[in-house]
Amino acid sequence: MDRIEIKTESKNYEVIVGENLLITDNFADAFNKEVFLVVDDGVPENLIQKVEKILGKKSLKFHSIKMKASEEEKSFSSLQKIHDSLMDIGYSRDCILYALGGGIICDMTGFAAATFQRGVDFILIPTTLLSQVDASVGGKTAINHKKGKNMIGAFHQPNKVISDMCFLTSLNARQITDGLSEIIKHAAILDYKFFIWLEENINDLLSKNSSVFKFAVSRSIELKESVVSKDETEKGIRKWLNFGHTFGHAIEMYGNFEEFSHGEAVALGMIMALNLSVNISGLDLNEAERVKTLIKVVLTENLLSTKFDPILLHQMMSSDKKKTGDVLNFIVLKAIGEAEIKKNPDVNTILSSIEI
Ligand code: GLY
Repeated sequence: MDRIEIKTESKNYEVIVGENLLITDNFADAFNKEVFLVVDDGVPENLIQKVEKILGKKSLKFHSIKMKASEEEKSFSSLQKIHDSLMDIGYSRDCILYALGGGIICDMTGFAAATFQRGVDFILIPTTLLSQVDASVGGKTAINHKKGKNMIGAFHQPNKVISDMCFLTSLNARQITDGLSEIIKHAAILDYKFFIWLEENINDLLSKNSSVFKFAVSRSIELKESVVSKDETEKGIRKWLNFGHTFGHAIEMYGNFEEFSHGEAVALGMIMALNLSVNISGLDLNEAERVKTLIKVVLTENLLSTKFDPILLHQMMSSDKKKTGDVLNFIVLKAIGEAEIKKNPDVNTILSSIEI
């Protein structure tokens, strides 16, 4: 088992990564506490029962709620359901919330914990590759507003994260792509050595080899930690984690939030951000090609043949900018493992980068 210490200004906590982690010893925070579990309805039933059995036996009071993990359900009304249950059953400020699920359930449970009685403890058990390497680390919690994703939220760090490889074997190909896309992102912006490791091990990752997964998840979390420990609330270098996301958010919108998953959109967005990096940040053409080649291995032929109308995609970036009140920031690479932020690049340069 790997233990990764996450150090932030507001809280330090541990992420444990490995196999067979769903055992009583790893749930000591729940002993004799009031525990409320939010479960993602996509998690295999036998694994839900394993967690419920431990929490039910060791806690003072235990209830769970199963929720649908969709962007529509990451809403005020779902949040209210959690708060209503906590109030109706009579949970105190000393309670602890657990989330068992993917990023949607982790984000929503975290926000419920951030807001219930002005903030209570919570622990995450992320069950997708994407949530293990991204949503569960760094304390971003949120629900969606009808005008934008994750628009209502708070920074609230968990007390612990339990990332068990057992959840990954049941993931479908798209869910694996979603996670790999963020893992490649972490390597591309922060760690050339890890990037080379990914080039060498990508096929084992695609075939869900558990020991390579463990290394990729742990290294990815360490890299994310190196960023959030310096900039918890995204005033500066945490923005690097948005590599591929300015194009990616617009790609999600372009596909009506149906055609492309978040990870697919970010992967395609990273290809465009690499084109932009060559144009405005001096990224060597061969290095750009190497990163693109790795990204393309995790995407389907179908996705790679998507044609985007540059003007329309750029309009979508600008409308997203209006909603978030941000300037049009792009994260670009100077070299593999070295990122920087460029604000408002020339429109024609952006348009010419919109190519897969
Ligand atoms: N998902 C990017 C971040 O946590 O900042």
